[in-house]
Amino acid sequence: MCGIVGYIGTKSALPILVDGLKRLEYRGYDSAGVAVLQDGDLNVVKQAGKISALESELNGHLLSGVIGIAHTRWATHGVPNQTNAHPHSDGSGNIVLVHNGIIENYNALKKMLSEQGHEFRTDTDTETIAHLIEEFYQNGTPFEEAFRAALSEIDGTYGIALISKYEPDKIYCARKGSPLVVGIGKDEYYVASDASAIIAHTRNVFYLEDGEIAVISREGFVTKTIDNKLVAKKVEKISFDLERIEKAGYPHFMLKEIYEQPNTVADAMRGRLIEEEGVAKLGGLTPILHNVLRSRKIFITACGTSYHAGLVGEYMLEQYCRIPVEVEYASEFRYRDPIIEDDNMVVVITQSGETADTLAALREAKRKGSTVMGIVNVVGSSIARETHGGTYIHAGPEIGVASTKAFTSQVTALTLLTLMIARTKSMSAEEGRNMVKEMKKLPEKVEKALQTDKIVEKIAGEFKDKRNFLYLGRGYNFPVALEGALKLKEISYIHAEGYPAAEMKHGPIALIDDDMPVVVIATQDSTYEKIVSNIEEVKARRGRVIAVVSEGDTKLDKLVDFTIPIPMTTDLLQPIISIIPLQLLAYHIAVLRGCDVDQPRNLAKSVTVE
Ligand code: G6P
Repeated sequence: MCGIVGYIGTKSALPILVDGLKRLEYRGYDSAGVAVLQDGDLNVVKQAGKISALESELNGHLLSGVIGIAHTRWATHGVPNQTNAHPHSDGSGNIVLVHNGIIENYNALKKMLSEQGHEFRTDTDTETIAHLIEEFYQNGTPFEEAFRAALSEIDGTYGIALISKYEPDKIYCARKGSPLVVGIGKDEYYVASDASAIIAHTRNVFYLEDGEIAVISREGFVTKTIDNKLVAKKVEKISFDLERIEKAGYPHFMLKEIYEQPNTVADAMRGRLIEEEGVAKLGGLTPILHNVLRSRKIFITACGTSYHAGLVGEYMLEQYCRIPVEVEYASEFRYRDPIIEDDNMVVVITQSGETADTLAALREAKRKGSTVMGIVNVVGSSIARETHGGTYIHAGPEIGVASTKAFTSQVTALTLLTLMIARTKSMSAEEGRNMVKEMKKLPEKVEKALQTDKIVEKIAGEFKDKRNFLYLGRGYNFPVALEGALKLKEISYIHAEGYPAAEMKHGPIALIDDDMPVVVIATQDSTYEKIVSNIEEVKARRGRVIAVVSEGDTKLDKLVDFTIPIPMTTDLLQPIISIIPLQLLAYHIAVLRGCDVDQPRNLAKSVTVE
């Protein structure tokens, strides 16, 4: 999704801006641009495509100015071409700005401004903001006031960074629904939509809240609300390292992140399990513990991979805590007017902490008076800050657009929540201790599951040219089938469907022939015999079966085309192991097909628009 970088200081801005954009590449984008203020002139250079295309376009531009802004765009309004790339300017070219988010009333604003004589050059909603500020300024309003006045006319969401000839030694920023972080250096400041863009330069940051602006000069900054009330900012320290967001020798971030999972699963549990008592302690829930434990119904809401983790959560919370759970896509939850009672709890799950639909669902739940708990990866993200309490999964930055390590850590966090609640209900200390013991073995078992890499790569070679895949699972492995299918379609562009195995006979079975690979998660759990019957049904129709099986299970060798043996664990923990070969399968197929694994087409890492 769109990314913003800005710099004001004593150094040449351009290299800092381009480097920052590269660090935001993982978010997904389709064009990029920079604007540098130099000798009183605003120089704007932009290009469609990758940042390397922007760099070629920059060749020959000697830009040494010390103030600038830059952007990677993920098209929402207008095709991804050079004209529609940010930065955008007003008619006079005296103001340039970059924007993340969507201006919902841009058509009305554009019409009104056109009637005042403004000429628009792009198809974007963003351009209207620059014209609107110019309109207020030309009517005699001081610049900062014009900036705030324009923002108050805008419906929708924005993260904005702006520079202008009118105030050539300042960067103006604003936030509503789209994150912005300001980094503080020595006589210099950085602005970014994501801390990873500026972490190479500073770790001291503050975050803008919705409805706030910052006016930044080399000497310092002022932060206010849009209606001109001063606000004080707390400077925070970013804790993650740059090495953690670099590839560390792996060909792709996605593969690196898949291989990090023995550690990230351990990190999600670290310090949270008390073996003697057979319990889990989640410090971030302290402020809401009473409400969490008395919940009579739990809603889980999320998008994409996080939604699939939520489905696993439903199975475990219902089975072990006997609390009814409803899992819903955040985009539906927010508009459905859900019935949330006083003793219900809403859990939002999100890797980025910035997904617009999840944020809106969270706000809707709060509006209805519900306690909202977050399971979040990005520390300090909007959702982390707006929930009443929650737990960080501590998976470290996830760069590959297709989420992998966040999924296993989210499921781990849900297991901790389940254990914590279950022990206040009918789960005995003995059962709790057994669960803790099994959880502690997870990192080692994930490590073992990763050893299937070579077998999986071979299978990928066999099936890489297929056009469709079916993924089947039952019980805890049903959400795993959904997630396996999502991984494949996201990065290889092969059509893939996940289904509960028994449901296959109500439709998808019509698709099965000798050209249809069917991935079945057939580990030895309570539904094993049933799923073997489902495999028989596929084989009877000449489907080609790739079965993920429990180590030592040779029963299926003769029945299926390929087996992938993985370690066994308790039912509720199995998804953390079962998903590993499916992540690897999607990865290898995508690589063999020559796809851009880390930045698949049309997708974004952090979806900050509706
Ligand atoms: C995007 C990403 C997915 C992710 C989903 C939810 O679609 O490409 O990988 O699962 O958003 O993101 P979140 O950050 O809220 O978990």
